[in-house]
Amino acid sequence: MSTLAVNVSKGLYEKAKEFTPGGVHTSIRNVEPHLIFTKAEGAYIYDADGNRYIDYQAAFGPFVLGHRHPYVTKKVVEALERTDLYGVGTTDLEIELAEKICKHMPSAEQVLFCNSGSEATYHAIRLCRAVTGRKKLIKFQGCYHGWHDYVARNMLSAPDMIGKRDPGSAGMMDEAIDNTLICTFNDLDDVQRTLEENKGEVAALIVEPIPHNIGCVMPQDGFLQGLRDLCSQHGTLLIFDEVITGFRHDIGGFQKVCGVTPDLTTMGKAMANGFPIAAIAGKKVYMQRFNTYPGGDVWFAGTYNGHAVGTAASIATLEMMENEGVHEHIFRLGEKMRQGIRDIHAAMGLEAYVAGFGSVWTTYFMDREPLNYTDLMDNNAEVYVDYRRRLMNRGIFKMPMNIKRNHISFSHTDADIDHTLTCIEDVLKELRGEGKL
Ligand SMILES: Cc1ncc(COP(=O)(O)O)c(C=O)c1O
Repeated sequence: MSTLAVNVSKGLYEKAKEFTPGGVHTSIRNVEPHLIFTKAEGAYIYDADGNRYIDYQAAFGPFVLGHRHPYVTKKVVEALERTDLYGVGTTDLEIELAEKICKHMPSAEQVLFCNSGSEATYHAIRLCRAVTGRKKLIKFQGCYHGWHDYVARNMLSAPDMIGKRDPGSAGMMDEAIDNTLICTFNDLDDVQRTLEENKGEVAALIVEPIPHNIGCVMPQDGFLQGLRDLCSQHGTLLIFDEVITGFRHDIGGFQKVCGVTPDLTTMGKAMANGFPIAAIAGKKVYMQRFNTYPGGDVWFAGTYNGHAVGTAASIATLEMMENEGVHEHIFRLGEKMRQGIRDIHAAMGLEAYVAGFGSVWTTYFMDREPLNYTDLMDNNAEVYVDYRRRLMNRGIFKMPMNIKRNHISFSHTDADIDHTLTCIEDVLKELRGEGKL
């Protein structure tokens, strides 16, 4: 196996660790080999040693157009030449963006901006508690909705902790942990049973309509509609956490694709092609409980909410989607990638499952489609990560971590996909040659 020259990265990492615990500013960024990134452009990222990678990590999803997309950059610079942040009143950019989101996103009668997906899910859950007067929340094993106490449990649980009490952090409030109930994705009976056992107590059910935090586990026919029906029957509000799926899979979110409309939607990531902004949207009757509305009693605030950088970037990103065939391009390349990998597998007689939707894909090293987190315990994690490290050595960047997904952007080309497929074939043959597959 060839290895990367990463000496400059290694040296800089030592310095990073001196001033920052672990040298990284988000926990799961610490992977081997540790790279220091210095440049990004379109579909490519570059490390401090000058290695170039085709980027499929996309910073966990925001880059739907590609890094530093010229149209987005231009609009952000134009905005910054005349405006920034006021902390009072409303900006023209906020109005323009809010109107666009309400036009495209089926559940969005009104929208509020914040800065991160975690903020958006926090606000959504607190709103549901205020509206229903109930405490409990349902989330699914394996789904991720941010770092706060309401949702930070049962994410990438160890096999023996699946579905059990599995807080993701020390220092969490017991009441928050215990009021979050865990269900199995794609299992409506489990959701129904949980709602019945906690009758009149469940304020909200939050779900990634496609749980991309565990790769790409697709909702089976009727599952999302079933959640909609069960929530309506039980007076529980349905939150689609579209922080990953929103805008990446359709300008109207995955809710537009699947035809199921939640009560509230949280968004972020692809919304602004890498610039920091997020949003919560939903029915007016609920949104007007926020205290941005006169008489509203649910606190909503943030110094940087609606900053010109995020709003201008988001308007530009949505304009690209409205006018430039972004989804046609990324869906076509996504399908080309998935089919190309399936063809390689078939030619090699390899049993592996290529999962994906639109611009997102991953190869699970298992013999069937996974329907939930438990199924993913059959994925060969060692091979999954080894495969990715070997691709990295060949200039293909996928997060070298188990069950992480890959993203294609509007900047990726047919040539990028062809080259990636050649590298994938090479790596799979190498792994087979070493008896690992
Ligand atoms: C589905 C989902 N919701 C919420 C979040 C939290 O977003 P942020 O990291 O912007 O706080 C993430 C982040 O990965 C996510 O994937």
